[in-house]
Amino acid sequence: MAETLALPTTTDRAELYRAVYPQIEALISTESDLTANLANVAAALKEAFGYFWVGFYVVKEGQLVLGPFQGPIACTRIPFHKGVCGACYTQRKTIIVPDVEQFPGHIACSSASKSEIVVPVLRLSGTVAMVLDADSEQLNDFDVADQAGLERLVRLIARKL
Ligand code: SME
Repeated sequence: MAETLALPTTTDRAELYRAVYPQIEALISTESDLTANLANVAAALKEAFGYFWVGFYVVKEGQLVLGPFQGPIACTRIPFHKGVCGACYTQRKTIIVPDVEQFPGHIACSSASKSEIVVPVLRLSGTVAMVLDADSEQLNDFDVADQAGLERLVRLIARKL
């Protein structure tokens, strides 16, 4: 297994997602442990995109519980009806928040986070197994390229559930 990511010298997110996808696929294809795979996915996304915070909240004990992540320490448990992560869980769809201050009920784990995207990881049955959350220190930092790139990536994780 390659121990470093090969990244193109571009800031074009769509291109970066295209470059990272097969590498993450290779990285997790030979490992069956979910925690190990989530940890490497978070690390790869942090390295490739430099998100302020990126990681997983896993459905557990009737809540969203902090899983592997990269970035500053974060809230450990999120009720299903709270925050952007809760909205993603309940609506079972990706949520892009251009300005977290404008999102009612947003949970501020860090005041430095200004915008975010949360993507559900769906089981074959359609239920949510976990959510992938990426936060940025810039306003309006996520768009449809991130949505497409991350939704494609989480399908790799979903296959291993
Ligand atoms: N902002 C999220 C909480 C998780 S942290 O950003 C890492 C939310 O509102 O659900």
